[in-house]
Amino acid sequence: MDGFSRDAQQRALLGGTPLLDLLDGVGGQTPAYFYDLDGIEATVRGLVAALGDPRHTVAYAVKANTAGSLLRRVAAAGGGADVVSGGELAVAEATGIAPSKIVMSGVAKLDAELDLALSRRLLGIQAESVEELERIGQRARALGVTARVALRVNPSVDIDSHAHIATGHDEAKFGIAREALPEAWRRIDASEGWLEGVGLSMHVGSMLREPGPYLEAARVVCEEARARLRAGGRLDYLSFGGGFGIDYGEGACEPPVAFARAALDLLRAEGLGALRLVLEPGRAIVAPFGVLVARVVQTKEHQGKRWLMLDAGMNDLLRPALYQAHHRVEALDAAPSGHPWRVVGPVCESADDFGLHPMGSEAPALVVLRDAGAYGYTMASEYNGRALPTEAFVSGGRVVHVSATRGVEDWVRRRLEA
Ligand code: LLP
Repeated sequence: MDGFSRDAQQRALLGGTPLLDLLDGVGGQTPAYFYDLDGIEATVRGLVAALGDPRHTVAYAVKANTAGSLLRRVAAAGGGADVVSGGELAVAEATGIAPSKIVMSGVAKLDAELDLALSRRLLGIQAESVEELERIGQRARALGVTARVALRVNPSVDIDSHAHIATGHDEAKFGIAREALPEAWRRIDASEGWLEGVGLSMHVGSMLREPGPYLEAARVVCEEARARLRAGGRLDYLSFGGGFGIDYGEGACEPPVAFARAALDLLRAEGLGALRLVLEPGRAIVAPFGVLVARVVQTKEHQGKRWLMLDAGMNDLLRPALYQAHHRVEALDAAPSGHPWRVVGPVCESADDFGLHPMGSEAPALVVLRDAGAYGYTMASEYNGRALPTEAFVSGGRVVHVSATRGVEDWVRRRLEA
């Protein structure tokens, strides 16, 4: 599984092909995201194989990267989807992911989104509150269909991660507290058949380095599942969510298959091996297989500080500004070495800063921001009047598809229309 690497001449490669050649494939346009579709597909295949039984589902968290070319590979590899909006559901379905492999999460699903989900009979609509459950029941009754619902449990586990991406603790807006689960089941049982309680789910947050905290939270879900089964309920699936971390250059993480195997072992050890297991990884499937290539527009040296100013900024890759996330920035034609440059974007915000990166004495013409396949393009904006970046899809060593920027002219036209 390739992703980013370097050859003997220290040229940066993606999926084994020099990024400089791939850049030619998009006419040299920057900033541009490049994705290694083969690596992504192989990762999904690896996870599907680790789960073994075809009943189990790798529900790729679409929010990480919504590109159609990429979703088609997820579908081809036998993956499903975790979606959080009607838009995500529509793209997942249109790229060939079967509704029976799609779960829908989200704390404030719109009525129209619930209606779409209900009409498709998804694997599960994951309810995040007792109040939402009530609304799902109303929509199901209005449409005359039975809603397959799962309860998203807030397992009350705090993970060691950035506060913005921890979701399973007591202060989080996500999920139903354990104390409220009996009431949720009661509402399901009293729904005159409009609500069918088919599962339990959780997602405790992102960037877990090893399965320990994940399993701790999953045990809570298993306990709750056994309680429901003891009470005579029927369950189809348990989703343990996503959150498998990747190495952004700050320390290795267990590979995604290690999480998948640990989850499966836990399900069996908890005596719940008859249930279907759902996992919702996003980042681990796409982040290492995407890079953002940018051009150096300007350098500046002052009082011993060296600045490298790019044509890519927080509008293209928001994670560093939003979470102080670290993405390695490297020259395209040389391995990191020497003293650091301060790498920043063009946006008029101090937070538009990618940090310090060693890149020798001469400023490079082109750089690559690594591990940008997840939560990169999907969180991009047009702030400061900048066009969204180009996206290029790589397979078999070449660019097989380009989704070119619509350009600043398009932005100007739309703003004038506003
Ligand atoms: N399932 C649910 C219900 C989720 O909310 C999420 C992510 C996932 C699965 C997938 O998590 P993953 O495997 O990708 O960690 N924008 C942030 C990450 C936010 C994650 C939100 N929920 C970032 O750039 O780090």
